[in-house]
Amino acid sequence: QIYDTADEASCTLAREIAELIRARAKAGRSVVLGLATGGTPVRLYRELIRMHREEGLSFANVVTFNLDEYHGLPREHSQSYWRFMHEQLFDHIDIPASAINVPDGMVPRAEVFAWCRAYEQKIKDAGGIDLQVLGIGRTGHIGFNEPGSGADSRTRLVTLDSMTRRDAARDFIGEANVPRHAITMGVGSILDARRIVLLSWGGAKARVVADAAEKPPSEALPASFLQQHGDVTFHVDRASASEL
Ligand code: GLP
Repeated sequence: QIYDTADEASCTLAREIAELIRARAKAGRSVVLGLATGGTPVRLYRELIRMHREEGLSFANVVTFNLDEYHGLPREHSQSYWRFMHEQLFDHIDIPASAINVPDGMVPRAEVFAWCRAYEQKIKDAGGIDLQVLGIGRTGHIGFNEPGSGADSRTRLVTLDSMTRRDAARDFIGEANVPRHAITMGVGSILDARRIVLLSWGGAKARVVADAAEKPPSEALPASFLQQHGDVTFHVDRASASEL
């Protein structure tokens, strides 16, 4: 789906999410959302907050699982994804704190494997992800699944690609400060979601968006595995669509 602006695309997804939340609330059921960080979903979160404030959209029946977190960053760190999600969304809506799940960046290495298995189990116990929101990195990553990540990869500790670390350098005031590792849901964990919506804005992502949509799925570009999912939509603006 190609939109004139990122705002239009974000509002379309916000409406879809709001409809899902309201339909489930009517049936007395919860909704499980998979959420992403980065600059891309900020407009979506802003619109969801507006709907909460102005239209009474309640998140009381929503459970969330975030895709990833830098390893070694405490929650309070200015660049932690936990903090990002609270500042950009959770602090402004009525979601119960117990319904929020973000990978723990401070799990000691020796415990990461067990921790990741438990995260996957928690997603299963919640009923699986109904709708997964994704951004895309210039390496073709989804979450932090860098090139080399298999279609069946699960939640795990990964090493960040040098391009990803360069792209994050500004936020960390220098590449040397960017963590080298992260915990991320795997490609396989993402593909388990019932529906997936990937967002992309701007010309810098045009090449990778085209490759993800058009090239044969391969580990060289993990986002290309999304082609193997039965219900996935890319919402992109004109600039990101320019290489399609
Ligand atoms: C980070 C996140 C990804 C995100 C990507 C793109 O690497 N782990 O989930 O999709 O950045 O970020 P942005 O939306 O800022 O371009």
